[in-house]
Amino acid sequence: MRKFRTLHEMIEMARAKLSDEHWDYLLGGADTETSLNRNRMALDSLAFRPRILNDVSEVDLSTTFLGVPLSMPLVLAPLGSNELFESGGGVSIALASEELGIPMIQSSAVAVDLETVAAAAAGPKVYQLYLQDDQDWMDGVIERIVAAGYLALCLTVDTAVYSRRERDVGRGFLPPSAKRSGPSHLAYQARMTWNTVAHVKERFDIPLVLKGINRGDDAARAVNDGVDVIYVSNHGGRQLDHGRGCLDALPEVVDAVQGRVPVVFDGGVMRGTDVLKALALGADLVGIGRLQGMAMAAGGVPALLRAFGILEFEIRTNMALLGATTLAELDASLVEPAPPLPNPQVLSAFPLLDEGY
Ligand SMILES: Cc1cc2nc3c(=O)[nH]c(=O)nc-3n(C[C@H](O)[C@H](O)[C@H](O)COP(=O)(O)O)c2cc1C
Repeated sequence: MRKFRTLHEMIEMARAKLSDEHWDYLLGGADTETSLNRNRMALDSLAFRPRILNDVSEVDLSTTFLGVPLSMPLVLAPLGSNELFESGGGVSIALASEELGIPMIQSSAVAVDLETVAAAAAGPKVYQLYLQDDQDWMDGVIERIVAAGYLALCLTVDTAVYSRRERDVGRGFLPPSAKRSGPSHLAYQARMTWNTVAHVKERFDIPLVLKGINRGDDAARAVNDGVDVIYVSNHGGRQLDHGRGCLDALPEVVDAVQGRVPVVFDGGVMRGTDVLKALALGADLVGIGRLQGMAMAAGGVPALLRAFGILEFEIRTNMALLGATTLAELDASLVEPAPPLPNPQVLSAFPLLDEGY
């Protein structure tokens, strides 16, 4: 891999490696891409209010997740068909996750099976399961997830049906995961209900993450029903269009959860300052989707480590500039509403990129 000095350069490398259709699959959103653009808009509509004159010579990013120590509050979000970005797919991500000391969430919509990813490296892994068949099928897969040693099971609840993504439709592109499973692709997702949650909690002894929560009342119900992790997400603007920017949904969910379980957030996060804004609004961990995919495409595991190294540096530096030395010191008083930058879009955190990306 050619070394890159900046995330800008990393993205240019990823663009050069990916075909137009794979690039659009990675970057695109649903329908008008309004949810996608609002994810950036929400992040860009907050400004910092730094504190001064604290000793910030030592900044500590460490935290824990479901009892596991982490080097920093980041998660490698699940990416279906991740073998498109680098042939190692989930195995490469597992290696990077262990090296980085952060959890990965393995999507079930990938080429490699769950046992291979579990055995690839020792880092903390969560398995995200799409329901392709009935409850017996689901129970059988969850038994394998438990036996393989995954830390938690994740059900994605913003994907009752697969959305319409015009970049893909226009090119006639179907992700390999959809081709593999044919018409049964996500067939049983639409039948997932609160009863599914109750069944999983009753039958299995593995922490349950619900990914794709957007409202305080749903979060409160999930916690009351025994869900162990609340994951605020709009699937990176790839599912329901015209939703809120995901960061705008975070405060009401944090308020409803009342610190009873961890809250994970994702949506549009490309920079250390984005991570800090989500943490200030009460997220415990922040998921990274497209940036992870671009890093994989740019150069596999070494590029993923380098990109997340830059992200960590940005988090550390900006925490010091905010006057905070531990994650516990990040609170909502550090941010306030501000006019957004013009034309937020998926790559607007990288203003030096040529137009046309
Ligand atoms: C290419 C791609 C594939 C994805 N596949 C899945 C998936 O299989 N399961 C899932 O729960 N979320 C999936 N997501 C959503 C991500 O886990 C995450 O919520 C989203 O990408 C976060 O937004 P960001 O890309 O702006 O960081 C996917 C996202 C992308 C970009």
